[in-house]
Amino acid sequence: MTGGVRVVEEPDAVAWGRVREVSVVCLVEDPDSPGGAELVLHQRDGRWAVPAGRRAPGEDVWDGTVLRVPLETMGFRRQDTHVFAVLDEGSHVAFWVNGGRYAGTRLHAADVSWWSGSVAAGASLLRSQGDDLAATLVETGEESRRTMTYERRTADGHRTLVGAYLAADTPQGGSGFGGSDAEWREARGVLVDALDPSRSSVRFLDHGCANGHLAVSMADWAREAGIELDPYGVDIAPELVALAIADHPALTSHFFVGDALSWVHPAGERFDLVHVLLDVVPADLHRELIQHQLDHVVAGDGRLVLSEYGDPPSSPSAEAHVTRAGHPVSGRTRQPTRAGRARGFPSVWIDA
Ligand SMILES: C[S@@+](CC[C@H](N)C(=O)[O-])C[C@H]1O[C@@H](n2cnc3c(N)ncnc32)[C@H](O)[C@@H]1O
Repeated sequence: MTGGVRVVEEPDAVAWGRVREVSVVCLVEDPDSPGGAELVLHQRDGRWAVPAGRRAPGEDVWDGTVLRVPLETMGFRRQDTHVFAVLDEGSHVAFWVNGGRYAGTRLHAADVSWWSGSVAAGASLLRSQGDDLAATLVETGEESRRTMTYERRTADGHRTLVGAYLAADTPQGGSGFGGSDAEWREARGVLVDALDPSRSSVRFLDHGCANGHLAVSMADWAREAGIELDPYGVDIAPELVALAIADHPALTSHFFVGDALSWVHPAGERFDLVHVLLDVVPADLHRELIQHQLDHVVAGDGRLVLSEYGDPPSSPSAEAHVTRAGHPVSGRTRQPTRAGRARGFPSVWIDA
């Protein structure tokens, strides 16, 4: 126990049915330090605070409360989600999440002031206000983040995404995208810029393919450009690969369960264009992720295209990630947009 805070090492250690309240330590990836993160706090009654709130009746804590509370208190959109402590005999749980400012249309607090800085500085600030428990929570959350294994991170990622993707009522929702068909096209359609126009046919593989919607959308968009694109996908979540196959039975042999960090085609096949969303692994593994694709997945004369869907200034661009990982960028797509306005970052490619 640390001042009434009981550290938990895994979600199964929490009696979820007893939880009535959550506190959410919100972290933003530090663009200048791979693997580093800054704490963000919000202002409440003239003091800096960690977002906290009650569980709504019938709400799932992981899928609902921990998403809603930081959105409603400070306009913060969680991505990675990890429980690290229980308090008050299990009725209160603490999570750390990373993410950034929310720019979408859900109910959220748009004009709340943020404090951001190192976890140590944030803990001192909270203690100087007399909020020792909040200071302990941010320090304990940061310790959990710093020491989290890849396996735990991956298992928590699975828990965060899969239920929401399976419950989605649009194909793009089954790939984690909240928006219309037209917005999907605006956001992801720029990836056709990475197609080599001198090729009339391309084998395309999407890592982290979820329900396969990006891979099959790419086939449609490439066809408009006169290019025949054969879609493939790999995802770490077996349920999502099963969904991709159910939605696209003609492509059953094109979807695989695997980790982007280590997957190789079972027969050693390689692909002309491989897409990877960089946040499928922590930033300190980007170099390894990229090198693995170039060594084992991308064809000898192929291309690797890398995306980052976060928004500035909370997220580094795909180009910043790739450059920092020590790889020269060979080209970049147009700026993706939403309702005609810039959103996120151009994707960038590396020629093998
Ligand atoms: C936001 S969806 C991306 C959907 C689509 N590829 C796109 O870019 O719009 C992220 C997917 O990555 C998967 N994923 C997360 N970590 C992964 C990993 N290490 N290897 C492969 N897939 C992973 C998740 O299960 C999820 O389905």
